[in-house]
Amino acid sequence: MPREITLPDGRVCILRPTAPEDAGALIRYMKETSGETDFLLRYPDEVAYTEEEERMILGRILDDPSSVMMVATVDGEIAGNCSISGHGARRKVRHRCNVAIALYRSYWHMGIGTAMMAYLTELAKKIGFTRMDLEVVAENARARALYAKCGFVESGRLHHAICLDDGTYHDFILMYREL
Ligand SMILES: CC(C)(COP(=O)(O)OP(=O)(O)OC[C@H]1O[C@@H](n2cnc3c(N)ncnc32)[C@H](O)[C@@H]1OP(=O)(O)O)[C@@H](O)C(=O)NCCC(=O)NCCS
Repeated sequence: MPREITLPDGRVCILRPTAPEDAGALIRYMKETSGETDFLLRYPDEVAYTEEEERMILGRILDDPSSVMMVATVDGEIAGNCSISGHGARRKVRHRCNVAIALYRSYWHMGIGTAMMAYLTELAKKIGFTRMDLEVVAENARARALYAKCGFVESGRLHHAICLDDGTYHDFILMYREL
């Protein structure tokens, strides 16, 4: 179900489920946003899906009752995306889901991240998850502030979780929220 939010500059941002037709635009978006920040887990050259492969992935997500992927659009263009993915159907872990969220740099700090997280939380509850998990690069102060504001608490640290092309290592902070 689409949801609208009004940005500080008056433009309307729509949060809606991704559709297979978004494949080409999403590939461009993933390549461009991965080049804008080191806080996402891939480099632009690692976004290697063809449009057809991406279309199939998006179709599978739409058919999966324990996954959600949404885009935020402004003036019909993708501004960001976010997702929930379950840990599978096994009884010991089926109560948990992972959350991911990202925006083009030009859309940071307009409240879209907060709105995405509120919507994902509602959907996660509706699906039946009782816990949301995420991992965030320790230096990502903006994301950590957003998650804390949305009720996530820090539960640990994964030492040297990522290694950048410049050879530097960075830790992940583990965060969760009970629903
Ligand atoms: C992380 C991200 C999704 C946040 O989305 P956003 O739309 O910019 O977030 P919002 O504007 O809704 O809220 C961010 C909050 O952090 C606060 N904040 C902003 N910059 C901050 C900083 N450097 N340090 C601490 N807090 C900061 C803001 O004040 C805001 O809180 P407020 O609404 O109470 O003022 C976005 O910055 C992004 O896409 N970053 C790159 C990708 C990424 O890091 N994804 C997360 C991977 S785990």
